[in-house]
Amino acid sequence: MNYTVLTLFPEIIESYFSASIMAKAVERSLVRYKIVNIRDFAQDKHHSCDDAPYGGGAGMLMLAEPLALALESAGAAKKNEENRRHTPRVVYLTPSGKPFTQGLAAELAQEEEIALLCGRYEGIDQRIIDLYVDDEVSVGDYVLSSGEVAALCVIDATYRLGAGVLRSESLAEESFAGGLLEYPQWTRPEIFMGLSVPEVLLSGHHANIRKWQLEKRIEKTLAVRPELIERGLAEGIFDAGTRLLIEKVKSSVGDDRNRTDDLLNAIQAL
Ligand code: ADE
Repeated sequence: MNYTVLTLFPEIIESYFSASIMAKAVERSLVRYKIVNIRDFAQDKHHSCDDAPYGGGAGMLMLAEPLALALESAGAAKKNEENRRHTPRVVYLTPSGKPFTQGLAAELAQEEEIALLCGRYEGIDQRIIDLYVDDEVSVGDYVLSSGEVAALCVIDATYRLGAGVLRSESLAEESFAGGLLEYPQWTRPEIFMGLSVPEVLLSGHHANIRKWQLEKRIEKTLAVRPELIERGLAEGIFDAGTRLLIEKVKSSVGDDRNRTDDLLNAIQAL
């Protein structure tokens, strides 16, 4: 995967590419990256990259001209140009973009090259979006002070899906794989602060362990992200065994709720 990051703060991005698993992926040429400092394309003697918005309003906007020049330097083509086959997919990070999900990460991971445009201030001139941006992407319903951190989220979630970066079994079991969150896990010691590792995990019975882990994934997902289960059922992504287990967990949660209601009613009747 090739990433080009267009930013006013190259050092934030550089530090990420130089650390940990990412640094190894770069060393092994599984990942290539280029950082473009938008300020290098400023046109006035003050190297200005922002100005006040037409029509008034709070804050400043990033100027169109340095952004267009920076994008062109990264090989980006205008959307109305005919041959865009070998040009990067241009992703602009903004809180008003479409949500960044594991599905979108998987889609972007298929690209040969992505150019990530990081906004600062109140955003960028709309003409840049109209002319160059393929996807406006938000990493969540909150406002960050800049797009750099959001761009790093996109890079992190996509490069690890690329061939050779991680073992495929890690990817198959992690949260969101198969539409469910991950099951809880324990490591040594067997007892910590009086809390024991669940028996089944010490049993060595692999089929039971797998079933128990799937049940835990379902319980966790139903508790904190029930909409993922409903979406998965509607999209038909669960196999028959998983669907049965979902029904079983749902009804036992219902039973627990009924028992709690009975208990509360009994207490109130006292
Ligand atoms: N820039 C500021 N906030 C953002 C967000 N939530 N997602 C993407 N880019 C952003």
